[in-house]
Amino acid sequence: MEYMVEMRHITKRFPGIVANDDVTIQIRPQEIFALLGENGAGKSTLMSMLFGMYEPDDGEIWIRGERVRITSPNQAAGLNIGMVHQHFKLVQNFTAAENIVLGTEPVKRLFGALPCFDKQQAEQQIRDLSHKYGLEIDPAKRISDMDVSARQRVEILKMLYRRAEILIFDEPTAVLTPQEIRFLLEIIRELKDQGKTVILISHKLEEIKQIADRCAVLNHGRLTAVRDVKDTSTREMAALMIGNELPEPMEKKEIQVSREILRVEHLTVENKNHLPVVRDVSFSVRGGEIFAVAGVAGNGQIELADAIAGLLKAKDGGIYLNGADISQFNVKRRIVSGLSYIPEDRQTTGLVLDFSLADNLILKKYGREPFSRRGILNPDEIGRYAEELIGRYDIRSARGKRTLVRSMSGGNQQKAVIGREIDLQNPLLIFVQPTRGLDIGAIDKIHRQILKEREAGKAILLISLELDEIMKLSDTVGVIYNGTMTRISDAKSLTADQIGAYMMGVKGA
Ligand SMILES: Nc1ncnc2c1ncn2[C@@H]1O[C@H](COP(=O)(O)OP(=O)(O)O)[C@@H](O)[C@H]1O
Ligand SMILES: [Mg+2]
Repeated sequence: MEYMVEMRHITKRFPGIVANDDVTIQIRPQEIFALLGENGAGKSTLMSMLFGMYEPDDGEIWIRGERVRITSPNQAAGLNIGMVHQHFKLVQNFTAAENIVLGTEPVKRLFGALPCFDKQQAEQQIRDLSHKYGLEIDPAKRISDMDVSARQRVEILKMLYRRAEILIFDEPTAVLTPQEIRFLLEIIRELKDQGKTVILISHKLEEIKQIADRCAVLNHGRLTAVRDVKDTSTREMAALMIGNELPEPMEKKEIQVSREILRVEHLTVENKNHLPVVRDVSFSVRGGEIFAVAGVAGNGQIELADAIAGLLKAKDGGIYLNGADISQFNVKRRIVSGLSYIPEDRQTTGLVLDFSLADNLILKKYGREPFSRRGILNPDEIGRYAEELIGRYDIRSARGKRTLVRSMSGGNQQKAVIGREIDLQNPLLIFVQPTRGLDIGAIDKIHRQILKEREAGKAILLISLELDEIMKLSDTVGVIYNGTMTRISDAKSLTADQIGAYMMGVKGA
């Protein structure tokens, strides 16, 4: 048998889009095969067909040299195909063991007749698997009490428990710290050594270079290249992914920082259950400085940003903008005082999706002249201003300023929010996850925009889950763990590994 998996001439359409267009890939037994491509290139769709979540509109799937139709995940499991999804699919209030055996519970017979769930046998099987592959978990712990990397181990065990031989990982490292990533890559290598065939979706090229045997590149639904990883470079892979030349590497200029613009003193914020989520945090940001808050998701970084912007009320502490305490101001007054905010979720807090692009671009300015006078809007001025921003920030859409924002791509929605906020010309810019879910080209543009604002002397607070982004942009790094800012350092004095260790609560790394 030459190929474990063959997908031949696969086409899959969704309304308005060809997600996979005549894609053919062939995967050998026991290889680690990487699937690359920008967001929306069709990677998850292609693998979902192998896992029986969709059926192709056209094309054939062959497993171990035989043509198959895979119409459900159960059928995929029957063919020893398992998948760890991009967004985990575990039942939160079940334990690890219950999740792993769900649907395939081993049965024992009470009094030789009544079937019932054999919990002991299940837990023993799980322990055996977990030792065999170094996937440490506590089978009795609830999913809701586990961190992301433990949840992922549960997902992996779940597929091994079902005797998967063909293992699909959909962007498994996107949510992990550097240490966790290294550990996962070792496990994947171990799985290969034990005879498994692995398909790895990722856009982290360094990882692919490290562990994959071959890689295939999807671009707008089409297969554009297949390479032996040892014969290619991360640079070539990146160029293949975006389908043309890479932009020039970014240059971060040495600039002189100016005075302090934002100061946060002993800030404490509680969630709605009155538990502290930000605890006694203090730091300051000066003009021309990018202060990045690094942390694993859910450690209080979003609440910190929301409290500074006025979306959440502080329990205690002071927030000073240009020396004035703004902690009692409402959101609108903070904006006027000089604060621009690019929130994590552009679709719910950043934009009004059913407004036009023009209306979204003046969302924070419509009350000012010349956009309105005595409460009457001036559509000509609004339109003229919208067109100016659309040009300046390269916001692309089908109908220009009249486009409904809902119909725009994520990257262009984000450009609209960023353009609007930067154009307020405030001295403080808060960016929360500014490039989440965007493709390489869009990410590059936004990074350049942020550096330009730094050069213009703005104080920038950057909250990001992407260590790459933090390493690339920040001047100062504050690590937040469990609501506390455990460390503030000059960015140049830290490696990504050290930041990763602090993010996990390691002290004195
Ligand atoms: N269930 C669906 N319904 C409609 N469109 C979809 C669906 N799933 C994916 N798409 C679209 O198909 C394209 C490919 O998506 P996907 O396979 O998720 O890309 P990738 O995993 O490479 O980021 C995207 O344009 C996406 O919006
Ligand atoms: Mg995907």
